[in-house]
Amino acid sequence: MHVHRYEKIWLAFGIAMLAIFLVTITTAAVVEGFVPPSHVESIDPAKVSSTAPFDHPGLRKIKTGVYEAYYVGRIFAWEPRTLTIPAGARVTFFVTATDVVHGFSIPETGVNTMVSPGWVSTVSHTFAKAGTYLLLCNEYCGGGHQAMAASIVVR
Ligand code: CUA
Repeated sequence: MHVHRYEKIWLAFGIAMLAIFLVTITTAAVVEGFVPPSHVESIDPAKVSSTAPFDHPGLRKIKTGVYEAYYVGRIFAWEPRTLTIPAGARVTFFVTATDVVHGFSIPETGVNTMVSPGWVSTVSHTFAKAGTYLLLCNEYCGGGHQAMAASIVVR
């Protein structure tokens, strides 16, 4: 089979780029310890229910208008199932999983983060508008994935 010279150059360029990317990503992950940006805190996934503050998931008031919400995802539910937040509050969510990868998503708010066992994902949002918000799982996690939902009441 005849391969044109320019074709060979282009192939070599493509293979070289792949090799460079692979070396860069591997170096970043192994040598520098890079992980996805929201995953900064680790946790033993087998001990989530006995590790504070995830042993008591829910809302914590930090100061007026500023809250932290702790969530645990497991097949096929979010804990807590319902959460009541004062309107106008700035909430930082800390979310972890005990079993498989889940997706923590509150549509129409921009809150959307992958939740992996062993890691704590964080995401913040200011709930300016009162109402009932749906919290769902947007990563396929098994047979009951579509039932993995909870609600957040802002009032
Ligand atoms: Cu949890 Cu899908």
